[in-house]
Amino acid sequence: MGSRVLQLLVLWSLATTAFSLSPYYYKNICPQALPTIRKVVEAAVYKERRMGASLLRLHFHDCFVNGCDASLLLDPSPTIDSEKNSLANRNSARGFEVIDAIKAEVDKICGRPVVSCADILAVAARDSVVALGGPSWKVRLGRRDSTTASRTQADTDLPAPFMDLPALINNFKNQGLNERDLVALSGAHTIGFAQCFTFRNRIYNATNIDPAFAIERRATCPLTGGNSNLAPLDPTPAHFDTAYFNNLVNQRGLLISDQALFGGGTTDELVNTYKLYPHVFWNDFAHSMIKMGNIKPLTADQGQIRVNCRIVNN
Ligand code: HEM
Ligand SMILES: *[C@@H]1O[C@H](CO)[C@@H](O)[C@H](O)[C@H]1NC(C)=O
Repeated sequence: MGSRVLQLLVLWSLATTAFSLSPYYYKNICPQALPTIRKVVEAAVYKERRMGASLLRLHFHDCFVNGCDASLLLDPSPTIDSEKNSLANRNSARGFEVIDAIKAEVDKICGRPVVSCADILAVAARDSVVALGGPSWKVRLGRRDSTTASRTQADTDLPAPFMDLPALINNFKNQGLNERDLVALSGAHTIGFAQCFTFRNRIYNATNIDPAFAIERRATCPLTGGNSNLAPLDPTPAHFDTAYFNNLVNQRGLLISDQALFGGGTTDELVNTYKLYPHVFWNDFAHSMIKMGNIKPLTADQGQIRVNCRIVNN
C-alpha cells in the first residue's frame, strides 16, 4: 500500500513540473523583482486602464500554446514563426511594449537578466487584476523562456470567440483545465474590449441575445466595415467585478463563447453562483489562474532566461 502511494507520487511528479515553481523563487536571487514589476504595471494601468486587460490576456495566450514559456513574446525571424501572427493574436494581442519596459527595469534593478519573460507575464497578469480591483494570489515562479514559438500551434490551441460550450470545454480540457476553470477564467472578460469582427455574427444573427443589447452594439459595429471598432466585454470594462456574469444571465454576453456559458448548459449554475457571490468568483479565479500558470513550464536547465523578451539568446 505504502509503495503504491509512493509510486503514484513519483508518477504524478513526473507528469507535472509545476512542482518546482515557487512563490519565493526570486526572494534571494533578486528581492526587488516583484515590487518592480508591480510598479511598472501600476503605472501602465494608471495611464490606460485597458492595459490591465491586455496584459492579463497575454499570460493566457502564452500559457495555452505549449505552456507558459513566453513563446508568445518572440518576434518573427528567419527561425521564429511568431505566435503574434496567429489568428487570435494578429492585430489583437497588445501590451508587448509594457513587457519590454518591465524587463528592462527588472534587469536593471537585479543587475543582470535573472527574471524570465514567462514569469514577468505571470506576475504582470496578477498585478493587472489587482490594479483593476480584482483578487490577488501568490504567483508561482521559476519558469524559463522557450527558444521556439509556433504560430500553427497557436492557431490550433487558442479558443475562438464563435465556439459553443462543448468546444470550449474540450479546448480547456486539452490544457488540463476543467469546466469550473473555464467559467472562472472566462470571467477575465469582466475587463477589456473586443473588436467588432469578433462579435458581429452574434449581434446580427443570434437568437439568444437581448434585442436591446444587440441594437446598442450594432450602432458601433456595422454589417460591413468598422472591423476594429471596440466594444466593452462587459458594462464595466475597467473594473474587475461580477458584471460579466450578471450580463450572461441577461443574454448580454458579447462573444458567442461568452453567452455559451449560460443558456441551458451545464455551466449555468456556476454562472449564477459567481453572479450572486463575488467572493466565490474571486477565490475560483485566483485558483484557476495559478492552475493555468502551471501549464507545462520549462524549469531548471530547460529553456533560457532571455535578455530581450522578443529574441532568443544566441
Ligand atoms: C474561453 C475562451 C476565450 C475566448 C474564445 C476568448 C476570446 C477573446 C476575444 C475574441 C477577445 C477580443 C480580442 C479582440 O477583439 O482583439 C478577448 C479579449 C480578452 N480576453 Fe479572452 N477569450 C477567452 C478566454 C479568456 C481567458 C481565459 C482570459 C484570461 C484569463 C481572457 C482574457 C481576455 C481579456 C482580458 C480580454 C480584453 C483584452 C483587451 O482589452 O486588450 N480571455 N478574448
Ligand atoms: C448571418 O448568418 C448567415 C447564415 O449563416 C451568414 O451568411 C451571415 O454572414 C451572417 N451575418 C453576419 C453579420 O455574420
